[in-house]
Amino acid sequence: MRDSTDTVIAIDGVAKQYKRDGRSTTALRDVSLSVSSGEFVTVVGPSGCGKTTLLRLVSGLESPTDGDITVAGKPVQGPDPNRGTVFQEYHLFPWLTVRENVAFGLVEQGVPAAERQERVQELLYVIGLSDFADAYPKELSGGMKQRVGLARALAVDPDILLLDEPFGSVDMQTRRQLQRELLEIWRGTDKTVLFVTHDIEEAVALSDRIVIMSGTPGRVRATVSVAESRPRNRSAQWFVDQVETLFERIESHA
Ligand SMILES: Nc1ncnc2c1ncn2[C@@H]1O[C@H](COP(=O)(O)OP(=O)(O)O)[C@@H](O)[C@H]1O
Ligand SMILES: [Mg+2]
Repeated sequence: MRDSTDTVIAIDGVAKQYKRDGRSTTALRDVSLSVSSGEFVTVVGPSGCGKTTLLRLVSGLESPTDGDITVAGKPVQGPDPNRGTVFQEYHLFPWLTVRENVAFGLVEQGVPAAERQERVQELLYVIGLSDFADAYPKELSGGMKQRVGLARALAVDPDILLLDEPFGSVDMQTRRQLQRELLEIWRGTDKTVLFVTHDIEEAVALSDRIVIMSGTPGRVRATVSVAESRPRNRSAQWFVDQVETLFERIESHA
């Protein structure tokens, strides 16, 4: 059993208000959530309920208007490569090749060239883009860019992965494959994962816990544990039932 001393991500009473053109939007209100070491937690909820905002706060790209966020016991004060982040819009460096994008964090950390090359090669293989090592982002499809974003975050072997709909623009088959790869990486490395998706099936397939949010303002409505062992059979009755139950709960709070 895990206890509170295992907590890696602690989100406590967090609110986020955006001000733009004199208008203010409350994206999150009184959100509390903790994620234990090695846990895979997924946040689901309708578009606009504040999922991306929550992840940006944990990554340190934004600060909360109210409340506290700590990671490994320390207040989040800005981005940190130990919190590998993959966003919906991938944010690749357009002037760098695929290989250079994936190597970016390793260069920053001063990892020697030979070791860097080996690591990048391995990751490109895992994401199925070995043949595109020298391509530039503009030559890639949306799904390929997302895979490069994932590889770039993984390259520095972060303890924590923050993933915002990382498989949103890949086809169904690639999506399943990447989900399997992610699970393997997670199981093999003991990483703590905070994952955002609006795909309930994806949430049930991957997670230890599913956090249901509703908008607006975004709040946590319920948390559901999924104890079944992985890999999970999507045609099993429990799986189908779980997806349906979650769907109904989300609908009723939308
Ligand atoms: N930079 C921003 N400035 C103003 N409003 C924002 C900004 N980012 C998000 N919002 C608003 O905050 C709410 C939550 O957005 P977001 O976190 O992107 O939700 P989700 O990822 O669940 O779709 C929405 O109403 C959105 O319009
Ligand atoms: Mg979003």
